[in-house]
Amino acid sequence: MHMDDTTRLLETVGQMAGGIAHDFNDLLAAILGHVEMLSGDLAPGDPRAADVNGIRHAAERATTLTQQLLAISRQQVLQPTVLNLSDVVDRARRLVQRVIGDQIELITCTPRDLRPVKADADQVEQILLNLALNARDAMPRGGRLTLQTRNVDIEDAAAQRQGNPPGAYVQLTVADTGIGIDPAIRKHLFEPFFTTKEPGRGTGLGLATVYGIVKQSGGHIAVESERGRGSRFDVYLPVTLEAPAVAEPPERGSRAERASETVLLVEDDVAVRSLIGDVLRRRGYRLLVAEDGVQALKLADEHASPIHLLITDVAGSAGPDASVADAVRARRPETRVLYLHKPFTPDALARKVRAALASHIW
Ligand SMILES: Nc1ncnc2c1ncn2[C@@H]1O[C@H](COP(=O)(O)OP(=O)(O)O)[C@@H](O)[C@H]1O
Ligand SMILES: [Mg+2]
Repeated sequence: MHMDDTTRLLETVGQMAGGIAHDFNDLLAAILGHVEMLSGDLAPGDPRAADVNGIRHAAERATTLTQQLLAISRQQVLQPTVLNLSDVVDRARRLVQRVIGDQIELITCTPRDLRPVKADADQVEQILLNLALNARDAMPRGGRLTLQTRNVDIEDAAAQRQGNPPGAYVQLTVADTGIGIDPAIRKHLFEPFFTTKEPGRGTGLGLATVYGIVKQSGGHIAVESERGRGSRFDVYLPVTLEAPAVAEPPERGSRAERASETVLLVEDDVAVRSLIGDVLRRRGYRLLVAEDGVQALKLADEHASPIHLLITDVAGSAGPDASVADAVRARRPETRVLYLHKPFTPDALARKVRAALASHIW
């Protein structure tokens, strides 16, 4: 298959998967949220706790899968910040070591003078983990895994050859001394569901996920391998000129403190809507609930007092060419906006709402 065909196939599969994944995310958010409330209501020692945990585990696994599908279709809600990739690698070191086991030696080379990139730290960690897992599978009898970061400038000729824009990048390398990759399968590596592993061992989603995250982050990825001598994956993320953000303000208010702010919630899914409503009302928030952007604007216009926070998903629109967030803020510039990243747990939701409201003070 030509690279163009592969790219097109990835786009199509990605769009389909992404569409389904969004719906599943809504359903899973509702399942997990209700499970959490249910388990909170069980008395200690209640034998039904095992069943509730079973539901939770299954829903969490489904959530992971859904996240992978969203990553592949490049439809994840990313939370990019200005990062030093050396810090991210250093922080992930213990986790990676745990994943690869102690048969494999882990070497990290993370220089301090690395230029900053703008990326979602959790997603970079996801890239590292997926690549490390593959490296582990490629070294069943042990070996060496190297994680390395470095500044690179991609010159025009080399960049063009790989179809990448020239420029300043940070390179993140994950290299192993494993079985290597057969040249015949090289071009299929990043296809969703491509795997050479036995059923139950491989899903074929690892590298497709990595590819999706890298692309959505504005980067690219290259592979080099020699059979029997190991493989090396190089991820390139563009250097950012943005200054790092100042440290986040401490969370305001304790758990026991009751909230009093007014929240406008826009959510088309009835289950998710009622869950969020429950969680926030329990904590004292006043809630205005809308099914869609049009209804939200109507509520915003009719409500005489302040609306402190708007909760919407990124797709929320108030018409053919206006997002709910823009339309509400045009009327009420003081309203904070929280883009909801589903699925979430009630506690995480409450924390995010608090943090979004607190950021308004600073
Ligand atoms: N480090 C590696 N060494 C050898 N083969 C690899 C490596 N990484 C990926 N592969 C090959 O690419 C395939 C796809 O990888 P991936 O998308 O992560 O799916 P999975 O690990 O579930 O098979 C693997 O089945 C394997 O054949
Ligand atoms: Mg894998």
